[in-house]
Amino acid sequence: MQLNEELKKQEQEITSRMALVRNKVLVMSGKGGVGKSTVAVNLAAAMAASGKKIGLLDIDLHGPNVARMLGIAGRRLESDGESIQPYAAAPNLAVCSMALLGADPSMALIWRGPRKTSAIKELLGGVNWGELDYLFIDSPPGTGDESLTAAQAMPGLAAVLVTTPQEVALDDARRSASFAASMKVKILGVVENMSGFVCPGCGLETPIFSSGGGEKLAAELGAAFLGRLPLDPKAVMFADSGRTLFDMESGRTRDAARAIAEKFAGVCP
Ligand SMILES: Nc1ncnc2c1ncn2[C@@H]1O[C@H](COP(=O)(O)OP(=O)(O)OP(=O)(O)O)[C@@H](O)[C@H]1O
Ligand SMILES: [Mg+2]
Repeated sequence: MQLNEELKKQEQEITSRMALVRNKVLVMSGKGGVGKSTVAVNLAAAMAASGKKIGLLDIDLHGPNVARMLGIAGRRLESDGESIQPYAAAPNLAVCSMALLGADPSMALIWRGPRKTSAIKELLGGVNWGELDYLFIDSPPGTGDESLTAAQAMPGLAAVLVTTPQEVALDDARRSASFAASMKVKILGVVENMSGFVCPGCGLETPIFSSGGGEKLAAELGAAFLGRLPLDPKAVMFADSGRTLFDMESGRTRDAARAIAEKFAGVCP
């Protein structure tokens, strides 16, 4: 009985926090390492720079990368026992991640499903975002406990699907799309990442992971194709040093990231 009441209270907390959030967007992929965190961080940064109020919640409990990518690794979030204050990483951009909570973010979390579900719910009900135009949620790959909990706990959740262009990534992305359909999560659009490597020496473009797969998938799903990000070694350097793609000098990658954010804003105003 007591447990039921606690669960009900938590549900109410989630509902009242999420009532202040206009758009809830899960950034997901079937395959690991295809650029979810990169897309989540850069979409969040672009929208925040355009004046929207943005939250970025990292629910990748085992591999939280958002803090490093935003140059705030090592910061700690304040909690008064009732609520957690997200970290203001930039004007209009508040961030919460497991890497900013707990004692030592370099230690592995050795948790089974129920513990993960409960941690995600605590974050959804506990983080004091206030009013937001967009809450971007960076997820681990696939359709496990973390994404499932978010989808169940957040009615109206939508998604951006990130994939690399090759068939093995698309196969996994289709599984994510099927998860989204089952959970009534609308796929707002598809981003094709690591699409074509342009040799900095000779300028020749090589489609290392094939090309066109993201656009094909978007058409299959009847979702918007948000654009492609080139495979750019500088993207790694910038992420590792806590800078977004918009901190780059003008060029293909920065322009591509800007175009993706603009297209996203069009499909999710
Ligand atoms: N377009 C790109 N060009 C070059 N490197 C990229 C590009 N996009 C992402 N990366 C790099 O590839 C690595 C994986 O990207 P990222 O962490 O965003 O993927 P992910 O899908 O979030 O991974 P995970 O499944 O582990 O959460 C990172 O080092 C990132 O900086
Ligand atoms: Mg990630």
